[in-house]
Amino acid sequence: MLKARIAVLVSGGGTNLQALLNARNTVLQSGDIVLVVSNNPDAYALQRAAAAGVKSAVVRKKDGNFEERLAAVLEENKIDLIILAGFMTILSAGFTARFRDRIINVHPSLIPSFCGQGYYGLKVHEEALAYGVKVTGATVHLVNEIPDGGRILLQKAVDVLDGDTPEILQKRVMEQAEWILLPRAAEMMSREIIGKENL
Ligand code: GAR
Repeated sequence: MLKARIAVLVSGGGTNLQALLNARNTVLQSGDIVLVVSNNPDAYALQRAAAAGVKSAVVRKKDGNFEERLAAVLEENKIDLIILAGFMTILSAGFTARFRDRIINVHPSLIPSFCGQGYYGLKVHEEALAYGVKVTGATVHLVNEIPDGGRILLQKAVDVLDGDTPEILQKRVMEQAEWILLPRAAEMMSREIIGKENL
């Protein structure tokens, strides 16, 4: 295998998807982003995929058999690595076991702070500010049956500053941590996958 085949799963704006697309052939050399899957047909991330010439698919929860249809589209496209990039859905133990050690997620805090069920998007930053931490950050980790509980791959700290709002802090964490860590982790995992295939 020359490159690992990557699917990026999204639900919203897709700035992390954009960071991955921008890293193609620089930071991300060992993986090819061949598919973007959204559970939300209106996600702006789908427009980013189209602009980058990457195939996309929409799998909606309300159409039923969500995980079965998601797994089918991933298997049809022979995906080696699944990247959750702002994918606002918790995957079941059955699904994560089916793709064991092949799913990574970016979370906008330093796990184990401000993580687990119910902590997603802006809510994570609201909670960090409410607690009064002076340092937060981002984590990229493997996905298992425990929400935000899989092995940590990369983390980066980001300062919380006086006057921060959740929106301001979210933007700083994205710029200084998420958009840097996610392409690096994608490359790490892709390299490992290619290495295993070529043994
Ligand atoms: C990102 O901050 C990501 O870390 C977070 O949602 C945002 C998606 O932004 N994910 C979670 O909270 C998952 N628990 P994006 O669509 O612009 O990449």
